[in-house]
Amino acid sequence: MNKFVVNGGKALNGEVVISGAKNAAVAIIPAVILCDEPCRIENIPNISDVTLIGTILHEMGAVVKRVNKSTLDIDPRRIFTHEATTDLVRGMRASYYLLGALLGKFGKAKVLLPGGCNFGVRPIDQHLKGFEALGCVHEISDGAVDIRSREGRLKGRTIYLDIVSVGTTINLMLAAAKAEGLTVIENCAKEPHVVDLANFLNSMGADVRGAGTDVIKIRGVNYLKGVTYSIIPDQIEAGTYMAAAAATRGCITVKNITPKHLDSITAKLREIGCDIEEFDEAVRVDARNRTLTRCNIKTMPHPGFPTDCQPQFVAMLTSCNGTSIINENVWDNRYQYINELQRMDAKISVEGRLAIIEGGTPLKAAPVKATDLRAGAAMIIAALTANGTTVISNIQYIERGYEEVVEKFQALGADIKRIYVKDSDDFAESV
Ligand code: EPU
Repeated sequence: MNKFVVNGGKALNGEVVISGAKNAAVAIIPAVILCDEPCRIENIPNISDVTLIGTILHEMGAVVKRVNKSTLDIDPRRIFTHEATTDLVRGMRASYYLLGALLGKFGKAKVLLPGGCNFGVRPIDQHLKGFEALGCVHEISDGAVDIRSREGRLKGRTIYLDIVSVGTTINLMLAAAKAEGLTVIENCAKEPHVVDLANFLNSMGADVRGAGTDVIKIRGVNYLKGVTYSIIPDQIEAGTYMAAAAATRGCITVKNITPKHLDSITAKLREIGCDIEEFDEAVRVDARNRTLTRCNIKTMPHPGFPTDCQPQFVAMLTSCNGTSIINENVWDNRYQYINELQRMDAKISVEGRLAIIEGGTPLKAAPVKATDLRAGAAMIIAALTANGTTVISNIQYIERGYEEVVEKFQALGADIKRIYVKDSDDFAESV
């Protein structure tokens, strides 16, 4: 079992280079299934979710070759099956993108229901409703979704999403890219990775318009050509380091980012008293010698404040004076990690979708666990501010989505290391 050990109390200073976006990579890699030629995908984060989706494609017949740490060559021409039923599929939430991609290629798909981070019910009813509108029928049995087009090829139609859903928007774009005629997705998600997928599909010759607005129009094409494509920077990884800089009252420059994607995060950090300077592809967060104060946050679909930065900001706000109120407006139950922060003496209470943080009292080190990916990032931030040594377990969640997280924090001056704990907690050696 691996754990992180963090000695808190050091301000972060220096530069950090942000990796490619996890949530774009886990959509764009399955999108290659639709392509009729090999593709090269660059700026891929070196994280376990990417390894997993690459392995799943390989097992389905694709030739997946890692060219270097951040580049994958994928040749989808030998994909021989519309089924993704290996246990690996359950290892990640985003394996549901195999449904859209396989439907687009074969007109049918059988995919195990997804796993991934667990913070309450994560239904896929909107995905299925959208596929049905494109002429598919499905059944769920033995833990898998078995879905097929009634007429072999999907048929474009107008679909109104009841909920603004990132996954549904992306899955329908994948399914519609080669469908017959025009698909219109109304009330769709506008996240940067939705736009990134549209750009990738268009670079291969697809006809996707309107991504980034709440109506996307896709006119199906018959052939998609191979391309070299570079994934956008990870907005959430950037937001995590920005929150960590504020929490430790440090000063860091976050590089290889798109500042526009970070507007809602930057606005909150300015509101609490940080100095933020934006450059073309970087942002500097300066919290040195500042008294940071409370704020309220309501998570919303993009361009609102991202739910995937909510836990990190809660951890950070424990260090700010005053009472902050968080309204988690996207997920029903994304506060399980707060029990862990309470073990560190954080003064936080939860009432339904609200978390109320009485900030300004230093946290105390304690053994804590990552309850999911972003919750794990929040534990690191809390530990960086705490007095004493915090040991974080369940770090496999963190490594699903953060590339070289220990090395990046160390380079900023954090006292953090990864340890291997054998059998009992008494025996630990550094790795
Ligand atoms: N929803 C439904 N039915 C559906 C789909 C979604 O009710 O069929 C609900 C969800 O329960 C949730 C809301 O709609 O309450 C939004 O869910 P969405 O579909 O947008 O989420 P997702 O696509 O499953 C992606 C990210 C999540 C991120 C959310 C919201 C990926 C692989 N995952 O999930 O990222 O929290 O969008 O922005 O892109 C993370 O990176 O840590 C992470 C969890």
